[in-house]
Amino acid sequence: MSNRDVAQAWAYHDGTKHSVASVRGSRHFLDWDIMPRPFKVYPELEPIALPRDFTTSTRPALAALAEPGAAAGDGPRLDRAALARLLYFSAGVLRRKTYPGGEIYYRAAACTGALYHIDLYIVCGPLADLEAGVYHFGPHDFALRRLRAGDHRGAVVEATAHEPAVAVAPALVAFTSTFWRNAWKYEARAYRHCFWDGGTLLANLLAVAAAVALPARIVLGFVDDELNRLLDLDTAREVTLGLVALGRGGAAAQPAPSFGPLGLATLPLSAREVDYPAIRKAHAASSLSTAKKVAAWRGALPARPALPAGGTVVPLAPQTQATPESIEAVILRRGSTRTFGHQPMSFDVLSTILHVATRGILGDFVTPEASLADLYLIVHAVDGLEPGTYVFQRAAGTLERLRAGSFRREAGFLGLGQALPADAAADVFWLADLAPILERFGNRGYRAAQLAAAIEGGKTYLAAFALGIGATGLTFFDDEVTAFFSPHAAGKSVMFLMAFGRPAGRRQR
Ligand SMILES: Cc1cc2nc3c(=O)[nH]c(=O)nc-3n(C[C@H](O)[C@H](O)[C@H](O)COP(=O)(O)O)c2cc1C
Repeated sequence: MSNRDVAQAWAYHDGTKHSVASVRGSRHFLDWDIMPRPFKVYPELEPIALPRDFTTSTRPALAALAEPGAAAGDGPRLDRAALARLLYFSAGVLRRKTYPGGEIYYRAAACTGALYHIDLYIVCGPLADLEAGVYHFGPHDFALRRLRAGDHRGAVVEATAHEPAVAVAPALVAFTSTFWRNAWKYEARAYRHCFWDGGTLLANLLAVAAAVALPARIVLGFVDDELNRLLDLDTAREVTLGLVALGRGGAAAQPAPSFGPLGLATLPLSAREVDYPAIRKAHAASSLSTAKKVAAWRGALPARPALPAGGTVVPLAPQTQATPESIEAVILRRGSTRTFGHQPMSFDVLSTILHVATRGILGDFVTPEASLADLYLIVHAVDGLEPGTYVFQRAAGTLERLRAGSFRREAGFLGLGQALPADAAADVFWLADLAPILERFGNRGYRAAQLAAAIEGGKTYLAAFALGIGATGLTFFDDEVTAFFSPHAAGKSVMFLMAFGRPAGRRQR
């Protein structure tokens, strides 16, 4: 299978679209007897406890969210406490809720179905109070477990074809998905959720890093087999999705020591697992097999020229000084809004959310100028902005009106018939023009487009809560969304959806 055979990405995307017919015709049901455990647990490895007495950052949350990740300098010293802070506020368990059927461990970042299929691993050189090694992060007991001793960053440097940020990073975070933990509910669509839920997690991680001026760069170009081997993953079930290079400087990476399989025991996720070959196929088809291919893969799309606006244009009015609250405080308060009232939100707040979330991300596939997705809005109730549909013009920082009118009913339908997008004050859809993205990046561009949209979506989640309003991620009927925003959106594919507004039953601030 070749990354260049982009029919594979289209086949996966088209094959996992929601339509009225696909949802009505689905015979899938939730088999509670095999609901997967939401944690990867290595029962035979000693836990290395992480400290919970974090110091909180002082930079305002909105400034941290707006920062693409290129802090000047090396950033603060990375030690166990610094890693603990990053891990807690991106993948940590923040709340437990007991239900008649069991317990849900809510984590720092939103996740489809609260199924938490993303795991984090650390590959680091010698840090002040942590030996060099390859570690797995266990959110269930907030501890690291060492999978391999020694400095294995060299293997990551090789696998990423000497990606410059990886080559100088004291620590690398790898994020993986164990498909079954999400596919139990979402079947083959779970592969999209790898990037959606990886993206919301990274939005938290990037903001928490930016809040303390820690450089952080996302890396999606790597030899898949090499990283999967390093983390000792059973790749029919769990794969590496990407990396974040953290910090700069410190002890240089050593030449990679050789390493073999570990065969470590992990607790079973459920009595039985169901395999979804479409997921494995999409992942294999977007894999890179050599460092040479990785080096050729790297690099952003050229920035796309903005189309001249055809309709009424409204400049955003962001208020980035709006709140001094820290990103940690915002993350502790975030939780998906379960019911929206119909109350309006202010234009300042909508502007600020859009502005902050679209300052750009840094990665080997993207620059702040070369985004991969366009934002389309359905505005229901925003003070000072006529209800209707809009497209966001990134470079100009404006909203261009496509259609005036009230579209609550349509929004409810597009969001899979749920009340949330109908009752919200505004819905934001990320649509990507996949053809040029796949042309440039091959099938792996599909991973990149989904992830980039989800990181922005995750930033909007946090920006909304920083500004005192509610938000939730949502799923959608694919082609119906594109048709709704067409002709402007013709040919584009929906990557992500967020709804914003005031939670029902709360008085307006
Ligand atoms: C990409 C994405 C899509 C989601 N889709 C829906 C949805 O369609 N309907 C819904 O009620 N919640 C949806 N959610 C919200 C999740 O159910 C929620 O994040 C999860 O239960 C964890 O709770 P928390 O966000 O309050 O921490 C979605 C979340 C994400 C990140």
